[in-house]
Amino acid sequence: MKQTQVTKPPYSSLADIYDEVMHNVDYESWADYLDEIILQHQPEAAEILELACGTGTIALSLEELDCYNITATDASADMIRIAKKKGVQVNSEIHFHTMDFLNINLAKTFDVVFMVFDSLNYLHNGDEIIKLHNEVRKVLKPDGIFVYDFTTPRNSRKAISYLNNESKTIDRKFRYFRESSFDGKNRIHTNLFRIQYLNHKNGSVESTHEEIHHQKIYTIDEMETIIKQTDFTILQAYDGFELKPAHEKSLRITMVLQ
Ligand SMILES: C[S@@+](CC[C@H](N)C(=O)[O-])C[C@H]1O[C@@H](n2cnc3c(N)ncnc32)[C@H](O)[C@@H]1O
Repeated sequence: MKQTQVTKPPYSSLADIYDEVMHNVDYESWADYLDEIILQHQPEAAEILELACGTGTIALSLEELDCYNITATDASADMIRIAKKKGVQVNSEIHFHTMDFLNINLAKTFDVVFMVFDSLNYLHNGDEIIKLHNEVRKVLKPDGIFVYDFTTPRNSRKAISYLNNESKTIDRKFRYFRESSFDGKNRIHTNLFRIQYLNHKNGSVESTHEEIHHQKIYTIDEMETIIKQTDFTILQAYDGFELKPAHEKSLRITMVLQ
């Protein structure tokens, strides 16, 4: 049978295998960390909005804490399709919507808006990052907080060794390969995913989809300069998953803005 090879937009074909690709990410601890940040900076919070929620794993973990009403959104309809399916399986009350975070269109306001796992790094310039902050402002209550992380050049340089040439077969239905590279001069991290759809009887490849993801990697100084051009102030820049201040060796920085 003739194989087909198709190039797809980011987070379309990847949606079906995203949770397997991320199997070693401890989302429950990540949700606990967000909960600690919320308790620290917005202890009365009830209404929460997640942007770029992917397949909904963090939102579903946060919901288990039984403290918040959660709306969760992502630009990819395929990621939201998986999130909704997982929500139905656990009788979740989370409202999942497909929505671009550069065009937020919701008829309510929130105590906390958050976005995790490098999603900010999909924005390639300061103007887009400022636009994101302006969009969030429209749906944030007056003393609400905006929490997000971004990954740093140091993290990209470290991650190449374990991300590049990663491959795995999943349920005899899919096989994926990842090529990961970092252009340190322009600070662009590229992940190419090649996803093969397998014939479940004989394992032959029926079709191959490719997705290329480009992320712009920012330093903390660059992010601080961009944030100064918004009407947010930085309450705290945390180091990774700690409640300690970020520093020049931080691999991931979690910003808390008001
Ligand atoms: C690395 S994934 C993180 C997903 C999820 N937060 C998690 O922790 O697994 C990045 C996500 O950002 C989403 N995304 C990228 N650009 C977006 C945009 N402009 N608006 C909304 N979501 C976007 C992608 O669809 C993808 O689900």
